[in-house]
Amino acid sequence: MPCIKDLLAGLAQTQEVTVRGWVRTKRELKNIVFLDVYDGSCFNGIQCAFERADPDAEAALASLSTGCSVAVKGKIAPSLGAGQAVELAASSVELIGSAPAETYPLQKKQHSFEFLRENAHLRARTNTFGAVARVRSRLAFGVHQFFQERGFHYVHTPIITASDAEGAGALFQVTTLDLAALAASGKAPDYRRDFFERPGYLTVSGQLEAETYASALSRVYTFGPAFRAERSNTTRHLAEFWMIEPETAFADLEGVMRLAEDFLKYLFGLALRECADDLAFFDSRIKKGLAASLRAALEAPFTHITYTDAVAELEKNAGAFTFKPFWGCELQSEHERFLSEQAAKGPVVITDFPQEIKPFYMKQNDDGKTVRAMDVLVPRLGEIIGGSQREERLDRLESRMAALGMNSGDYAWYLDLRRYGTVPHGGFGMGFERLIQYVTGMANIRDVIPYPRAAGQADF
Ligand code: 4AD
Ligand code: MG
Repeated sequence: MPCIKDLLAGLAQTQEVTVRGWVRTKRELKNIVFLDVYDGSCFNGIQCAFERADPDAEAALASLSTGCSVAVKGKIAPSLGAGQAVELAASSVELIGSAPAETYPLQKKQHSFEFLRENAHLRARTNTFGAVARVRSRLAFGVHQFFQERGFHYVHTPIITASDAEGAGALFQVTTLDLAALAASGKAPDYRRDFFERPGYLTVSGQLEAETYASALSRVYTFGPAFRAERSNTTRHLAEFWMIEPETAFADLEGVMRLAEDFLKYLFGLALRECADDLAFFDSRIKKGLAASLRAALEAPFTHITYTDAVAELEKNAGAFTFKPFWGCELQSEHERFLSEQAAKGPVVITDFPQEIKPFYMKQNDDGKTVRAMDVLVPRLGEIIGGSQREERLDRLESRMAALGMNSGDYAWYLDLRRYGTVPHGGFGMGFERLIQYVTGMANIRDVIPYPRAAGQADF
């Protein structure tokens, strides 16, 4: 059975075809009725044209409204209408499931994204969310293509873990202890009696485990869910998001940055080529100039600047910010956007951050103050990628962990990588939703994942 994408591409030149899908609109003219039917296989639906002569067809058409599911029989014919090469000269239509107009939440008119978030179970039926879903699917596959073509092996790192890789403390605890009973008895939880016989958490990152596999297979990547109990109610943070984390052995920061740039450019190019119709929609209806900005990002080399130089640049423009920049500060979203939008006018890679604002595992520079970290910032969004070269020297790693008051016993397995056959290595993490935001121009991260999870929000 051909899908609408095949029919529109002229791939199915069968005489009589049946189109199965949902009615987007019905337009009734004097002698003809047009149904726009879509099945989600591509951005466009197919126009089904009914001659108004047949009383049976007339009765069937009268029962159809936006949102109902149908099977339409007819022949593919050249279309006279603008915007489509072919249409279906329809002979009959069968109603599969009705969608009563009095109650169906999605009518023809435009709905706000807030309204659609509350109706997230239906929003994939709209042009915008159908397009987001297709781009997401294509780019997820593209992530695998990129790495597999370059000899990287896909590793499944655990979702439940006992370690806080990023040291940020934004962990969701996983427990089978009876919390209500504990609270009632006023007793402190005894984690030896918990499921894992120790506290367990949802992972914030698969990096540390990915490093163990990179220390054996040289090039690996993860692509899985990550969880952060950050209360930050922003348009760029989710409590549950998908992250891609490549890790490469025998690599320094330059190698990591090259990989990150190639990776982003590959995905931008893929989206422009293979999601052209969806991107044309985003360009005209969601974010003007989107395709041009992706093309520009793809063609020019990314700008590079050290954190120290970036802060100096920000300090020169301190008046523009609510949060005054200073050496040692975390870059705020307004700083990140300034650096990419105003200073670099495109993607910018910031390197060599202060050690104090980065996790324990990053390679220490000789200045005793900074680490071999890099963040890739893009216009509209700020950080899209964060990564680093890792500290491969056992003594340096141990002294950093001690300085941070970390229990090295908990990380004995991680330290073994440095104890046995250590190599320079590094990698990065890219938030998949941030990528989809950048490529589609969607302003809110909650609109690029089917069912967003954020503080106070876990519906569906
Ligand atoms: O910069 P982050 O915290 O780095 C790590 O997790 C490292 N372990 C990565 C590595 O070197 N292997 O997160 C990486 C990326 C960010 O740049 C951002 O794109 C995304 O993950 N990210 C989030 N996306 C959505 N919601 C959140 N709460 C996110 N936190 C991070
Ligand atoms: Mg980061």
